[in-house]
Amino acid sequence: MNNRLFSLFTICLFFLGLLQPLATVDAAAATKPLPNIKILATGGTIAGAGTSHTQTVGYTAAVTAVDGLIAAVPELQNIANVSGEQVAQIASEDMTDEVWLKLAKRVNELLASPLVDGIVITHGTDTLEETAYFLNLVVKNDKPVVVVGAMRPATSISADGPMNLYRAVVLAGSAEAAGKGVLVMLNDQINAARDVSKTDTASLDTFKSPGLGLLGIIQNEQVAFYRQPTRRHTSASEFDVQQLSELPRVDIVYGYANNNRTMLDAAVKAGAKGIVHAGTGNGSIHTNLKPAIEAARRQGVVFVRSSRVGSGIVLRGGEFDDDSYGTIAGDNLNPQKARILLMLALIRTSDPAEIQQLFWKY
Ligand code: DGL
Repeated sequence: MNNRLFSLFTICLFFLGLLQPLATVDAAAATKPLPNIKILATGGTIAGAGTSHTQTVGYTAAVTAVDGLIAAVPELQNIANVSGEQVAQIASEDMTDEVWLKLAKRVNELLASPLVDGIVITHGTDTLEETAYFLNLVVKNDKPVVVVGAMRPATSISADGPMNLYRAVVLAGSAEAAGKGVLVMLNDQINAARDVSKTDTASLDTFKSPGLGLLGIIQNEQVAFYRQPTRRHTSASEFDVQQLSELPRVDIVYGYANNNRTMLDAAVKAGAKGIVHAGTGNGSIHTNLKPAIEAARRQGVVFVRSSRVGSGIVLRGGEFDDDSYGTIAGDNLNPQKARILLMLALIRTSDPAEIQQLFWKY
């Protein structure tokens, strides 16, 4: 009898010994402090409301305040200490330089605090890629900054906003997201602010990085990165807007068949310091515009060649004599992003050669 009790006691000790490390791991996981994540709200569909559960177009954007967005996802409390601020409450087609500057300064102020581990920005999808890229160039910190939106209002069946917000907080609280620049999180996919674009007017998987692909994927609470951004961003960026109250005016003119100089001349007359041309093909420009470009250049207006096609490089000196006209090739930035880089470049210089180097670095 004693032998049998001793054997049973020994077996119990053995299994207790096995469980001890697991218990230690569980305890370690349980005692690891949750990340402090600040959610800055600007409006958009993620805060939108429709008149029925089936309406996904034509609803009212920018209705729900940030505390309402947080309350709609109680699971956030399990993964982070979240708190919110309402920076703006607009449909993002109405985004302004003023909101951009307010947002950038608040992000930099918050990230400078050791009490903030990451930031999530809720935003309309129409100009989400622009705000994300602007922040990618002016945020002076390597902590995660994640921009998130939704394609369906919170009132719709299978609204995507709550899960997108949850994943964005997971990402902002992850060590893997640090140092990768501003990230865009929708539909379980992680894209780089520099590369991503809204590619469909209504589909849930509208955000793509054409020709380049996503950076990573989130499933449940698991963050997986497969690529790194290669161009300069955030703490490696030379651009600083902390003391600015406005940004240089840069307009975009569109290229198409039978084009004429009217819109280009109007932009110059309106005071544009820079112009981005959304050209055909490899940044090609209709002959009718060439005299207008020469006139704009004589007035010191800086001119960047981009392309309307959506992906690929606009090659310097490829389809246009950039050296002769003093124009700049926009690399693979789409027109709306080339505009942002040109705006920030013009704060530092109006020299085309210097700005061309910036388009090759950022
Ligand atoms: N009004 C658009 C915007 O705020 C709706 C698109 C969206 O947020 O998904 O960008």
